[in-house]
Amino acid sequence: MSRFTEAPIGGAGIGLRTKHYQDVLSGQGAQLQEVIENRPPVAWFEVLTDNYLGTGGLPRHHLHQVRENYPLTFHGVGMSLGSTDPLDYGYLTRLKALIEDFEPAWVSDHLAWVSVGGRYLHDLIPFPYTREALDLFAQRIIEVQEFLGRRILVENPSTYLSFTNCEMSEWAFVKALVEQADCELLIDVNNIYVSAVNNGFDPLEYVRAIPAERVREIHLAGYEEMGQYLFDTHGYRVRPPVWELYRFVLDQLGPTPTLIEWDNDIPDFSVLLEEAAKAQAEIDRLEAAA
Ligand SMILES: [Fe+2]
Repeated sequence: MSRFTEAPIGGAGIGLRTKHYQDVLSGQGAQLQEVIENRPPVAWFEVLTDNYLGTGGLPRHHLHQVRENYPLTFHGVGMSLGSTDPLDYGYLTRLKALIEDFEPAWVSDHLAWVSVGGRYLHDLIPFPYTREALDLFAQRIIEVQEFLGRRILVENPSTYLSFTNCEMSEWAFVKALVEQADCELLIDVNNIYVSAVNNGFDPLEYVRAIPAERVREIHLAGYEEMGQYLFDTHGYRVRPPVWELYRFVLDQLGPTPTLIEWDNDIPDFSVLLEEAAKAQAEIDRLEAAA
């Protein structure tokens, strides 16, 4: 039985970042503490799980404080679902303990790989959309889900190139994967837009193919214009074309919990609140029209 009493997750959430913890620890502004006490209109926070797996003490203490007041979701990069390395059961065991401690509404990772030969890389590495890759991902997701005793969400990547040996589109791969692995989806709208521009496909075609019944969460973030391509830096406000695509996604999927992700040049918390309010307004618009 849960130690936390709360409604199911809905509406717009914010990615919890250590910058906002530091405000609390240093006493300079006590921003997050004020946030907690005043209960701002943030429906939930998403936690970068890999930051808490090896730590006790203060980080977990503050996370417990947040958890007392808000629902949480977990988002990680360490499952390395597309790697040919064996699954890291040490990692999964620590993750499972964190899940039992904080009871997140759900747990997500990426449609990518981050390790080879036991060495972990700092980036999410893409892969060709082949039948072989599909079988590999599906088998590993099934194993992870059996170990954790729950379904996980997988997130679509942002890509900068296409492999010549692809046997299917990314959206066909995603659709086949959720059926084969019986997993759920985290659809990153910014990633779809960035990949569409960089690889020259129609983002609307991608969105129309998404199996709506499998989507539990949406991500929104800001990319950087690099001239020849778009770079998924998560360092800006959500760009206008992504807001436009987000509205199309919501029309396709219905009201869906949506997270503002910001990982570089992290701004004041008030900026994240503004972005979340914009996403919430879009969800409210959809619900009012229903
Ligand atoms: Fe994302």
